[in-house]
Amino acid sequence: MTELIFATNNAHKLAEVEAVLGDRFRLLTPRDCGITEEIPEEQPTLEGNALQKARYIHERTGRDCFADDTGLEVEALGGAPGVHSARYATDGHDFAANNRLLLRNLAGASTRRARFRTVIALILDGRESLFQGAVEGRIAETEAGCGGFGYDPLFVPEGCDRTFAEMTDEQKNALSHRGRAVRKLAEYLHNRTK
Ligand code: IMP
Repeated sequence: MTELIFATNNAHKLAEVEAVLGDRFRLLTPRDCGITEEIPEEQPTLEGNALQKARYIHERTGRDCFADDTGLEVEALGGAPGVHSARYATDGHDFAANNRLLLRNLAGASTRRARFRTVIALILDGRESLFQGAVEGRIAETEAGCGGFGYDPLFVPEGCDRTFAEMTDEQKNALSHRGRAVRKLAEYLHNRTK
């Protein structure tokens, strides 16, 4: 079994990624490796943040690892909150406050089109690679569902009439930005780690 550190302390993300990568990979968290501080993500792009997080882990452990960074890009808001998705309303990861602010800022907007985009940075044998996944959709008028996390109660993927939060993890993974990026990562890993 191949061991990789996934640079997240978000249990939802970990479960989503484990479900896609399958049994051949054992994922460790930063905490499992004694890294308990918040991992810095100070770059102006998703790519920059994913690389910064992966490098932070790699420099401290020397081990194979990957990190993801996700942004919700809302057309009527010029692509906001984008790279600032975690700290849209407050300095912390306050999902409820972020969702309230998003609904307020979209009141009366002529389009509710939006896209989730995930970038994964992998460091394998010291070599860096990037993988991307995106899903188009729209922001609902009100929150619905209690699955997932973050903006899931507001995001309705294209061709669906339910939010991500109204889906099972499996249904969300099949359509989602992160599911798509992780399947690309999985294909790469399957070819590189026999
Ligand atoms: P992160 O930096 O990759 O953790 O993502 C930034 C923010 O985007 C998170 O704090 C969440 O608010 C939001 N986010 C990331 N992934 C998802 C998702 O799969 N569903 C809903 N919101 C998400």
